[in-house]
Amino acid sequence: MGTISQLDEKNFTKYLNRHEIDAIVQSLANQINRDYEGKSLILVTVLKGAFVFISDFIRHLKLNTEVEFVRLSSYGKALTSSGTVTIIKDIQTDIRGKHVLIVEEIIDSGRTLKFLYERIKNANPASIEIATLLDKTSKRVVEVPVKYTGRVIDDQFLVGYGLDLEERCRNLPDIYYLKYPN
Ligand code: IMP
Ligand code: MG
Repeated sequence: MGTISQLDEKNFTKYLNRHEIDAIVQSLANQINRDYEGKSLILVTVLKGAFVFISDFIRHLKLNTEVEFVRLSSYGKALTSSGTVTIIKDIQTDIRGKHVLIVEEIIDSGRTLKFLYERIKNANPASIEIATLLDKTSKRVVEVPVKYTGRVIDDQFLVGYGLDLEERCRNLPDIYYLKYPN
């Protein structure tokens, strides 16, 4: 089990414990099960951060699903969002005429998702929606149509449950916020 002992513990405060996260994931899955009943769904998952979320989320879905992964550059190793988004790894299936759900773990400026949303839309899917575990709505720079939101959060830098601090902390089962990001 992951620990934060290798980091400066005094800077971390628990924000959501694993049971609270479970409840949010289950509630998102309930909405998707209801809204896509009888349909097949392609889950386009944004790497790396969303890989923990998708692995829990998909096990609550009672639908025919396929999982695809994309990797986009946005943050790099900095804590602030950069303006340009590029594709590092694209999806590997034809989504024309298919129902697509973009799965993200956290939205900040919205730049990453806006880019991905437009790109997928241009491929003419039957439908395209966005689900995110967490949303820093107050940080939005560009508008993105997010249909499913697990939890709206304040402007805090979070780590754990897939969220990283310079690539570390993704393994923590709970989510923490950083008191003194620098
Ligand atoms: P955006 O393009 O500014 O919306 O940035 C979204 C991406 O930045 C997310 O997919 C995360 O990978 C990363 N990110 C945003 N906020 C946080 C955070 O609080 N902790 C860790 N990663 C974050
Ligand atoms: Mg992400």
